[in-house]
Amino acid sequence: MKYLIGIDIGTSATKTVLFDERCRVTASAVQEYPLYQPHNGWAEQDPEDWYRAVVSTLKAVVEKSNVNSSDIVGIGLSGQMHGLVMLDENNDVIRPSIIWCDQRTEKECGEITKLVGAERLMEITANPALTGFTASKILWVRNNEPENYGRCRHILLPKDYIRYRLTGEYATDVSDASGMQLLDVPNRCWSKEVLEKLGIDISYLGKVYESQEITGYISKEISELTGLSEGTAVVAGAGDNAAAAIGTGIVKDGRAFTTIGTSGVVYAHTSKLSVDKKGRVHTFCCAVPGCWHIMGVTQAAGLSLKWFKDNFCRDYIEKAEKLGCDVYDIINEDIENTPVGSNRLIYLPYLMGERTPHLDANCRGVFFGLSAIHTKADLLRAIMEGVSFSLTDCKDILTEMGADIKEMMACGGGGTSPVWRRILADMYDCRVKTITSKEGPALGVAILAGVGTGVFESVEAACDSFIHEKDISVPNKENHIKYNEIHKLYKELYTSLKDDYKALSRLEL
Ligand code: XUL
Repeated sequence: MKYLIGIDIGTSATKTVLFDERCRVTASAVQEYPLYQPHNGWAEQDPEDWYRAVVSTLKAVVEKSNVNSSDIVGIGLSGQMHGLVMLDENNDVIRPSIIWCDQRTEKECGEITKLVGAERLMEITANPALTGFTASKILWVRNNEPENYGRCRHILLPKDYIRYRLTGEYATDVSDASGMQLLDVPNRCWSKEVLEKLGIDISYLGKVYESQEITGYISKEISELTGLSEGTAVVAGAGDNAAAAIGTGIVKDGRAFTTIGTSGVVYAHTSKLSVDKKGRVHTFCCAVPGCWHIMGVTQAAGLSLKWFKDNFCRDYIEKAEKLGCDVYDIINEDIENTPVGSNRLIYLPYLMGERTPHLDANCRGVFFGLSAIHTKADLLRAIMEGVSFSLTDCKDILTEMGADIKEMMACGGGGTSPVWRRILADMYDCRVKTITSKEGPALGVAILAGVGTGVFESVEAACDSFIHEKDISVPNKENHIKYNEIHKLYKELYTSLKDDYKALSRLEL
């Protein structure tokens, strides 16, 4: 029996899973780490935390599984997209990574648009300049920390920094590289034109591979630290959303999924390049060679619920500890009987600004309609509904672009919640399904590792054989009509508040 490993370097934790060649989980391990927010709207992480988590979870799965390490033939890397890791000439990390949800780079986005030209930027990178993407973060360091920028010799994404530590190679894959805003997305290679216009040296970037290609091999040092065999192949892998697509079988036209992790994403596969002229959703290369995906992003999806739970749900946390269960199960149970509309309470999930559809770094979260009758359960349900309205905004744009979404797969932590899936089914007015495996991105990149090392014939063939559907949530017409009404008001709230958000960001405090 051959084995494959998928590693997902997420925002809250790293998850490493060992699968057998039929994609069954043999062992898995998770290690959490902190998110640093030095200022309102900033978000940073320490790449050393990711590295420690990867080494310890790799060691744990090798030990727990008792599998002969020479039978582990391939490893795939997945992770949070867009984060900036800068290395100096000694390959030491220069500063904490500025990660995907950081919103400090509005000015640099203006600079990028001016230097490249708005239309040309869309033609080459398939997206407008966005605060979330890596290019504006690079310019921010150049503008604000010239000394750090002067020392920079390598620029890597989070999972690609881990690749460097595991194999010594500087490389990336087409899906994750698409989110740097330095890739020629139609042609799947670095854009010399964008790099020249932005003044970024191409030698700082790693080699670009298709997701299933082998990029290097596990080093002696990592073999000694983890128990893996030296020389185990590491494939290019994919950004977490492109990886989750493979892990949920979204590899053909007409297929789509919603993931509710820290961020929320509505993703549709497309074999033809398709770009939203208004830039409200992203167009990236996907992990299936020769294909792309379009996706809308809700910045604070699971993050909204986690923020509320961490700050205001001590009682739930203690109850979960006493019962030895997951605190989110208690939350789900508690809101089960809260009615649609959360007793006239609407939540806007803009804790970290918003991408789809507003592309607004300054907007912030709101509870609208708070009354003395509201309970914690109402607030929690309002959070799930508010995030789902934002995801519905994403789905509506994908539909407007021609994606024919008849049913939706759900994944990520939020996708495991039956209540949340029902809310999505009612709002989307389509069936929302899950699959038997909960491993999403880790499974996706393990499949890619299997294709790269010859265990599987192709991504599509492996998905057909090993991805099986499970639960189905069916939309309720009555709830759909109610949600449509609330959604109108939800959208108006942003329009009404747009200028106030700007004023809030300018307050000298
Ligand atoms: C996608 C995005 C997020 C991160 C977080 O564009 O920024 O989904 O990948 O995991």
